[in-house]
Order: sequence, then structure tokens, then C-alpha cells
Amino acid sequence: MALKEYERMVYAIIEAIKQGEHVKPIQEAIRRVMNKYKIQGTRFDRRASGIIYGVFRNQGLIDRIIESIAGVRTDEIDSDARAVLRLVTYTVQLDPRAGHSIKHTFIRYAKKYLARKGRDDTLKLIDTITRNKWKPISEEDKIIINYRISPQLYRALKHSFDLLGENLEAFLSSTYKQYTKTFRVNSLKASRNAVLEYLRRAGYEVRPGNYSPSAIIVSGSLDKELVKLIETGILTPQDESSMVAVELLDPKPGTSIADLCAAPGGKTSYLAEYTRLKSRIHSFEIYSDRAKRMRRLLERTGTIKAVTIHVGDARRSPEVLGEKSMDYVLVDPPCSSTGAIARNPDVRWRYREEDIKQIIILQQELLEAGWRLLKPGGRLLYTVCSVLVDEGEYVVKQFLEKHGDAALVKLEKPFKQSPLLPGTMRAYPHLHGTIGFYYALLEKK
Ligand SMILES: C[S@@+](CC[C@H](N)C(=O)[O-])C[C@H]1O[C@@H](n2cnc3c(N)ncnc32)[C@H](O)[C@@H]1O
Repeated sequence: MALKEYERMVYAIIEAIKQGEHVKPIQEAIRRVMNKYKIQGTRFDRRASGIIYGVFRNQGLIDRIIESIAGVRTDEIDSDARAVLRLVTYTVQLDPRAGHSIKHTFIRYAKKYLARKGRDDTLKLIDTITRNKWKPISEEDKIIINYRISPQLYRALKHSFDLLGENLEAFLSSTYKQYTKTFRVNSLKASRNAVLEYLRRAGYEVRPGNYSPSAIIVSGSLDKELVKLIETGILTPQDESSMVAVELLDPKPGTSIADLCAAPGGKTSYLAEYTRLKSRIHSFEIYSDRAKRMRRLLERTGTIKAVTIHVGDARRSPEVLGEKSMDYVLVDPPCSSTGAIARNPDVRWRYREEDIKQIIILQQELLEAGWRLLKPGGRLLYTVCSVLVDEGEYVVKQFLEKHGDAALVKLEKPFKQSPLLPGTMRAYPHLHGTIGFYYALLEKK
């Protein structure tokens, strides 16, 4: 029997909430589920995505409400019950758009979903959550309510923004705004002007980017024409602050380049295009599924022939490629992603100090490996999509103290010099309308 439309939407939302716990980015989880339930392109598409984003954006708050009203910790229950309780709590307690009948419908199908899974034990909790209204009490509740981020992340951001002399309130408000859709035009396939003209004729509101000569900014939804240009490799979705990383490294054709943390491949494909396919690029990625995704992008953009993909730990790259073998190195390691909160709502809640300590060690080790790869006279760009000084200025400061043969190449354009380590640079969402990025360019003496 075919599921009724509303029922299908509720089940799809529950599954996206479940999958979004481990499939990153969340957009990918949403895409998969919308396809499975055949919701993509229907009248429920935007509504369902809005609710899923709403749940992720408010996750820490939702969990707090569940704990205080129902006395249950969401990390102690199974994923079906957790997803259903999160959806019901969001709809009943937080969704400003949910009227009485929507709430009623959602609760009905959420209960049916649990019953189908044989999870009758959770039904009582749903009733408790729907019958009680939650009120913030503690200071931590207030941080969560005001900023929709975890108190731990708030404290980490405050520490960094105080040191950087930046406005935390302005940054946090920018994370709720609709972000701009930015694409890189593949100059191997078309000129930026030709693409701008083509899209204007197709009825899009479109303009050149603000910082990168390869960028265009598009308003409106991602429909047929844009998808066609992406599928044919003419456009690649990429933030301008990510394009700028390649432009700062400024590699020349006919050289050797290593990209140590390469998937999903936005910067690798630009490196290949930037050097007109005339350089050899060695791209490392530790996860094979992510490396596959990168390969698809490189094939689509016609850049694969300039790239050798190495699936493995880039900390071992000097053993693979040889010490002092590269003219240019890009180190774009995993990070807190705090510069990309607007795009990845789960970043609001997943910050844990212990995890960041581990990530910083990995960042330092990858930077060390990159340095060993670099020829004397070569250049290395260290960059992270983080607004935390511990992952930016402090990693580079420590590195400079240890390596007498490293010199900073001064960066001050097109974004903002860091007052904490002058010569290095930061892009901010609230100042530049981009993802937040940190950049340090090092030259080997
Ligand atoms: C910030 S992302 C890189 C984004 C990429 N540079 C781009 O522009 O599309 C970091 C990547 O490094 C990968 N990674 C993590 N640890 C690694 C390691 N030890 N060696 C190689 N890659 C690693 C992650 O799986 C992830 O794909």
C-alpha cells in the first residue's frame, strides 16, 4: 500500500534526522532520503527540508527540553526513538510555523512510525512532551535559547573572538542568514562572462563574485539550468573563501603540488585548472568513499589527468613522494568547521573540547608532513574553515617557533589580517559574507 503523502513526509523527516547523525554533510542525508521517499521536487520538498534543518539547528536545545520535561537523555536511547522525540519536540515546542493540525498530524504519524518498529515503549514520552511547555531556567539554557549553540562552543568562540577583537554577536547573527550560492566557473570549459550571460538569459539573477575572478553568485533555487552546468563540470559549488586559498598559494604551471587533505576536491580541481593541467598534483585523502567522490568531481571538471589520487594517511606522504619533492603544498586539514556553522547546523552542537585537542594534534602533524615534502624556496598554505585561534594562529605560531627555515609570506588581501599573528589572514561570514577561513602562507628558506 502506498503511503499517504503526509505520512511519507513524516517518515522521510525521521529518517533524515537519523541518517544526519552519521552522514555528513547533512545535505547528503537529506538528498538520499528525499529520493528514497520520492519527495524531491514535490510540494513537500521545501517544507520537509526546512523542518530537518530546524531540528539540526536546534538539536542541543531540543535535547535539553526532552531531558527536562521527560527526564530522558537522548544519548541513552536508540536512534529511532531519538529521531522521533527530536522531531516531535521541535514541532510541538519550537516550530513557529506548525499550527494545531500540523502538530496533530506529525504526532500521529510519529507514533505510527514507532509502532511499526515495535517501539511502543516510547509513546508515553511523546505524550509527556506534547502536554508540557518548557521554560529556560539556567544561564546555560539562556545561551542555548539566545544563540542556538552549545554552551561549550559559545565559550570557545568567545575566547577566540576576544583575542581577535571581533564581534561575536555579529558573527552569531550571520550564522542564521541565508548564505549566498557561490560557484566556481571552470575556465577550462567556459569563461565567466559567457556563463554569466547564459544564466541571465535563462532568467537567473547572477553576478560576479566579490573576491575571486572565478566566482559567480546566484540568487534563487538550484534548478535545471544550474544542475546541468554542475553536471557538465562547468560550474562547481564552492565558497569564495575556498577559491581564494588556491589563489593565495598561486602555483605556477609546470610544477609539483601536494594537496594533503583533498576530498571532496574543490581545491584540488581548482589547483589543476589554475595551472592549466600543466602541473602534477598529488592529492591525499584518508577515506576511500570521499576519495571516490573527489574522483567523480575531477572527472566531471576534466581535471583528473593532472591529478594522482593517493588514498591513505597524508602524514605518511613524505615516504610516498619523497622529502623536499614538492614546489607547493596545500594543508587544509579537518577542523571544528566553526567557520561554516551556517551551512552545517550540526556544528552548533557537536563541539567537544576533547575532540578539538585531538584535531589540533592531527593539524600539527599534517603541517609537519607538508613541510617535509616542500623543496627549499617552495611555498605551503595552511588553511582551516575555523574561527578558533587554537586551530589557526596557535598552530602556525608553534610551528614557526620550531622551524627556523620557515618564513611567513605576508597576507592581507582580500580579507582581514589577523591581529594575533600579523601576516596571516582571516575571512569572516559577518564581514565578508563567506565561510570563515584562516590562512597562513609559509615559504621554506
Ligand atoms: C577540510 S576537508 C578538505 C576539503 C578539501 N581541501 C576541499 O577543498 O574540497 C579535510 C579532508 O581531510 C581528510 N583527512 C582527514 N585526516 C586525514 C589524513 N590523516 N590524511 C589525509 N586526509 C585526511 C578528511 O577525510 C577530509 O576529507
